[in-house]
Amino acid sequence: MEFRRKFAAGEIIFEEGDVGDCAYVVEHGKVEIFAGKRNTRVQLATRTGGDLFGEMAIIDDEPRSAGARAMTDTTLLIITRDQLNQRIERADPILRMCMNVLLSHLRDTLRRLTQRNTLEFDRPLINDEALSQALSAIRLEQALQTALDQDQFELWYQPIVDLQDGQIAGYEALIRWRHPERGLIYPGAFIGAAERCGLIIPMTRWAFQQACTDLGALGTDRFVSVNFSGKDFAAPDFLAYIDATLAALDRTPSQLKLEITESLLMHSPETARRVLKALRQRGASVAIDDFGTGYSSLSYLHSLPADTLKIDRSFVQSMLVDESSHSLVRSIIGLAQGLDMTIVAEGIEEPAQGRALRDMGVQLAQGFFFARPAPLAHIVSLTEQWVPKSLAGSQDNSGPLSL
Ligand code: CMP
Ligand code: MG
Repeated sequence: MEFRRKFAAGEIIFEEGDVGDCAYVVEHGKVEIFAGKRNTRVQLATRTGGDLFGEMAIIDDEPRSAGARAMTDTTLLIITRDQLNQRIERADPILRMCMNVLLSHLRDTLRRLTQRNTLEFDRPLINDEALSQALSAIRLEQALQTALDQDQFELWYQPIVDLQDGQIAGYEALIRWRHPERGLIYPGAFIGAAERCGLIIPMTRWAFQQACTDLGALGTDRFVSVNFSGKDFAAPDFLAYIDATLAALDRTPSQLKLEITESLLMHSPETARRVLKALRQRGASVAIDDFGTGYSSLSYLHSLPADTLKIDRSFVQSMLVDESSHSLVRSIIGLAQGLDMTIVAEGIEEPAQGRALRDMGVQLAQGFFFARPAPLAHIVSLTEQWVPKSLAGSQDNSGPLSL
């Protein structure tokens, strides 16, 4: 794998119209960017230490828009097509569309400047796939705004059960979108988009306010867990908003658990620490969600003022069939116990999973085995008629005869 290329003074790096295989950063030396070929060269720019060039052909997959020539002995650092493309693929589709439009304007201007080609007005600015991605992102964001304005979100609840006595200890509030044409939409289909466009903040605030309202119906001796994103925590008025909502609805923070995913905490650990601490000081509980799927180091977890760890469903679901998941779950539990944190396991679908987790010391669990998420009214009546589910499996279920 080649990382650097050296060019002697005067040497051509590439010509206008060439196929581009990489972009460059000037490490040492000086580069001239020119329009036109050898005899008709017009200098467009010069590039020196730290400057990037040759990116356009990689981004829009068109020929080199201009030529490049070493003005002195020059060393260039190579950025491969793959390195650049991986980043572009991860970028927001609307940002990608803007970038492609800008590039096409720039190419157009270059052509006019050098007056060599007729303008290509009918050339599509971006390919069909990129266009449809960008358009569906724009449409989704607009639909989310409408959903907020027209109150199309619903807050459902999933019971969280105490593994010792089978009683409901609390609930996780889960957002659902009741779309007028498409019906019920689950958060996996829209939370990412809401995070990218910033609508996540009014959305979570709506959910938090709704959960505080619903607390009355769910009973004062149980907690409600609400999901937040890193963006929510980073908003400068986040704590003021929480305080104002609690005061307006006359709720105490002690019944609330705020869930935040491990990966989102990693983005701005200092803000996270400060906000979590303030929440704990108010008496609210804080849970790290999806634990095990991110990259936190143990020392980082140790420094976080959180009191609850949620074990991700993916580990719970594979732990009885896959030895490495099993040991991962065991070490997460050990870690949480060492830090005196409460553990909530997600995604319990079979009694054997609940049994194994309980025997390893997990206190709380949620999953289809206990109850599916449902709207408030349903959950209230489910709670009233709740009968603890037995975790006993077939081998434990032995009748008196087999004693
Ligand atoms: P690319 O088209 O891959 O190859 C030529 C490079 O020249 C291009 O990417 C840009 O990095 C650079 N370039 C093109 N036009 C200009 C300009 N007007 N000013 C400065 N640099 C340019
Ligand atoms: Mg959660």
